[in-house]
Amino acid sequence: MESNKSKILIIGVSGRLGFELAKASLNSSHPTFGLVRDSAFSDTHKSLKLHTLSEAGLTLIKGSLQDEDILLEALKQVDIVICAVSSKQVHEQKILISAIKRAEFGADPDRTQVSDLDHNFYSRKSEIRRIIEAEGIPYTYVCCNLFTSVLLPSLVQPGRKAPPRDEVSIFGDGTAKAVFMNENDVAAFVINTVNDARTLNKVVYMRPRGNVYSMNELVGIWEGKIGKKLKKIYITEDELLKKIRETPYPENMELVFIYSAFVKGDQTYFSIESSGGLEGTQLYPQITYTTGLNTCMYDLVGGNDHTGDLSAIVKCSDEESTPTKASFSVIPKLVPTGLTGDTIFHVFCEGETAKYIWNYFGAPMGNKPGDWNIRRILRQWGEFKPVNNIHRLCL
Ligand SMILES: NC(=O)c1ccc[n+]([C@@H]2O[C@H](COP(=O)([O-])OP(=O)(O)OC[C@H]3O[C@@H](n4cnc5c(N)ncnc54)[C@H](OP(=O)(O)O)[C@@H]3O)[C@@H](O)[C@H]2O)c1
Repeated sequence: MESNKSKILIIGVSGRLGFELAKASLNSSHPTFGLVRDSAFSDTHKSLKLHTLSEAGLTLIKGSLQDEDILLEALKQVDIVICAVSSKQVHEQKILISAIKRAEFGADPDRTQVSDLDHNFYSRKSEIRRIIEAEGIPYTYVCCNLFTSVLLPSLVQPGRKAPPRDEVSIFGDGTAKAVFMNENDVAAFVINTVNDARTLNKVVYMRPRGNVYSMNELVGIWEGKIGKKLKKIYITEDELLKKIRETPYPENMELVFIYSAFVKGDQTYFSIESSGGLEGTQLYPQITYTTGLNTCMYDLVGGNDHTGDLSAIVKCSDEESTPTKASFSVIPKLVPTGLTGDTIFHVFCEGETAKYIWNYFGAPMGNKPGDWNIRRILRQWGEFKPVNNIHRLCL
C-alpha cells in the first residue's frame, strides 16, 4: 500500500453508502479505517460486509460517534474523515466538526423548499454546515441528490418496490427534474475529491446531463421499455401536501422527498455556476459513471444488454496535493429491487433459492450480492481487489 496516500477514516462502513466508500477508498490504495459499532458484528449481512472489507485491507476500529475517546484516537491516525451515517444521526456529527470536512449525500439542504414538512431533515444538515463555517473549518459539501436505488425502482410510486404496469401517479405537472446517481459512482467521486484543493470551501453537485429526468420523462422511458401506455393520475401540489400532512412521520418522508425533487425541483431549479458550486463530472471527467436511465431501466425488465455506457470505474488520480482535513461524498446507480414473479432477476438473484446459492458459493469468494442484479454483482466482484486466495485465483 502506498504510504503517501491520505489515510481515510470512514464512519458507517456497515451501511449502504459507507460500504461503497470503503471499497472505493481501498481500491484507490488509501490506508482506510472504519469506525464500527459492536452491534454490526452480530448482524449477518453487516458482518459479512465487514469481513469482506477487512480482508481487502480495512482497519476496523470498534466504537461509535458517541465514544469520544475512541473517536479522537481514531482521528489522530488519519488525514481525512468521511462520515456516512444515516440522516437520523446528522447531529451526532457535531463531535467530528473540529477535525473533519463533511460529506453530504442528498440534496442541497440550503436550497430545498419544503418549509416545515420535513421534520428538520434538511435544517439539521444546514445547521451542521453553519457550525462548520462558523468554526472556520475548511470544508467541501458534496450533494449527490437521489440514489438510483431509492425512488427509481418504483418509478417514484410511494409504497411500491417495482414500477407500475397499469397506472402511474405523476406529481405536479411532471416537468420538474431530479438527478439520479448510483452509490458506487458517488463513492468514486468522493474518493477523487479527497485532497483536491479546487473543492475546498465549495459545494460539489452531481448533476451530469444524462442523469437528470422529470417524471414525465421517466414514465415515457418506462412505457417504451414495456411497450405499453400507462394511465396517468396527476397529483397536484396541494393534494400531495395534504397527503404529507395526513401521513404520520416517518412514513411521510418518502412523500417529502418526492415533493422536494419532483414538484419543487429542488435539485435542479438553480444553476450550479451561479451558486458558486462545482459540478462533479466536470471536475473529474476521467471518472466513468452510470448514466442514461434509459439504459438502466433495462434492468427493470429483466436484463437486456447495456450498450457501453453502463458504469464503471473510477480511475483515481495519483496526484497528491496538500493534505486537507476534509471529507467528501459521491453518487449512486440503479439497484433494482423488489421485482416480483418469476422474472430472470427473481430466479437468478432475488429468490430465496438464488440467494442461498449466491451466499453458499459467492460468500467464500468475497461476493455478497444483496438485492443487486447479476451484472452488478459480477462487475463489482471483478473490480474489487481479491479478498482471499479463491477470489485471487478466479480473477
Ligand atoms: N440521496 C439519496 O437518495 C440517499 C438515499 C439514502 C441515503 N442517503 C444519504 O446517504 C448517507 C448514508 O446513508 P445510508 O443509506 O448509507 O445509511 P445506512 O445504510 O443506514 O448506514 C448508516 C451507517 O452509519 C452507522 N452509524 C449509525 N449511527 C452511528 C453511530 N452513532 N456511530 C457510528 N456509526 C453509526 C451505521 O452503523 P450500524 O451498522 O452499527 O447501524 C451504518 O453503518 C446519509 O447522509 C443519507 O442521508 C441519500
